[in-house]
Amino acid sequence: MNDGIFISFEGIDGAGKSTHIQSLAKAFEAAGRVVTCSREPGGTDLAERLRALVLNEDMDAMTEALLVFASRRDHLQRCIEPALQRGEVVLCDRFTDATFAYQGGGRGFDWETLAWLERLVQMRDGPAGPVLLEPALTIWFDLDPAVAAQRLQGARAPDKFESESLGFFTKVRQAYLRRHSNAPHRFAQIDAAQSRQAVWSDVLAAVRDRAWLP
Ligand code: TYD
Repeated sequence: MNDGIFISFEGIDGAGKSTHIQSLAKAFEAAGRVVTCSREPGGTDLAERLRALVLNEDMDAMTEALLVFASRRDHLQRCIEPALQRGEVVLCDRFTDATFAYQGGGRGFDWETLAWLERLVQMRDGPAGPVLLEPALTIWFDLDPAVAAQRLQGARAPDKFESESLGFFTKVRQAYLRRHSNAPHRFAQIDAAQSRQAVWSDVLAAVRDRAWLP
């Protein structure tokens, strides 16, 4: 049986992840894999209800962080872990890097506390001791916040985060950079300012490099 593969997709709002997630799902399916597409916050009934609160209600940074980790725990237990155990490919639109980026970078919430919550929610017993359950690959659509803001203009009614300032997204991007430099092997940093076709070929290359697709 195939081993499960866990891939997350990250980037500031407007970086353009969505179409590439769908294309990658199709590519895996064409290669005979079963794919579970999900998102965070969200992915289960409970987590989607928490998402609606996080994206629409005003709250302080700690409350936001606790709610996204609560939604993540439910999502891991009821969706991601069972899918990986069945040997599926899990494609997740955002995961814990987004919490470090948005709550840590954007809101300025304490990085060490986030790291503690990450361990609390994601540590599992492995055959050789405790391991952090995290994506095997994180595809990071990196984009200048000013370009992202232009792309978002007039796209649709912005949610709480999409309405944030350029300064906020600059801090979000810096926090992604920090996560990247802490675990470079896990990340594929993609220049999201390129044409859609060029971005897609970089996405595909990142997955092929790991021999997950022919
Ligand atoms: P997003 O993934 O951009 O979905 P959509 O394309 O439907 O708008 O929206 C999710 C938002 O939630 C995004 O602005 C980032 C934010 N977020 C956090 O602040 N913390 C988190 O831990 C996660 C997963 C997301």
